[in-house]
Amino acid sequence: MNCGQIQSSLSNAAEEILRRYTFTVPLRRITKDVMFSGCSMKANDRLALFLPGADLDPREFKDPERFDLNREKSGHVAFGIGPHRCLGSHLARVELQVIYQQVLERLPRFRLDETRPVRFHAGNVIAMDSLPLRWD
Ligand code: HEM
Repeated sequence: MNCGQIQSSLSNAAEEILRRYTFTVPLRRITKDVMFSGCSMKANDRLALFLPGADLDPREFKDPERFDLNREKSGHVAFGIGPHRCLGSHLARVELQVIYQQVLERLPRFRLDETRPVRFHAGNVIAMDSLPLRWD
């Protein structure tokens, strides 16, 4: 692989990880009573925008649960949408690519240990508690 191809793979990996494992759940407060998609919401209700669900929507992504580094369409909403869309998204993208590159350069080959579960916890930000790996 030449430099350009490595850069392109790292960029695809960063985008697919952001899509498949979207971890941000922004919160909103409803300002007035409203009916949205058959759901009644009252002023002052709190609303969690479950972006991980949007990024697994089969109407948007073919075979959405599949982690696919060659996925043609990206267009995920891990950085939010609208006026509060992440201000740091460009910096975050560069940081992710640098982290993956540095980690892969330093670690020996590894793979998931499929005998042990990957554990996540939910919340305003979804996080990974445990990611068991095996070294080849
Ligand atoms: C992978 C890393 C990141 C993800 C997934 C992410 C995701 C998000 C999301 C979903 C929002 C929208 C929140 C909302 O709608 O209420 C947001 C907002 C924001 N993010 Fe990020 N972010 C990341 C990294 C960063 C970094 C590195 C910075 C700054 C250096 C940053 C700065 C901000 C700021 C200032 C806002 C608020 C924008 C506003 O309310 O107008 N983010 N981010």
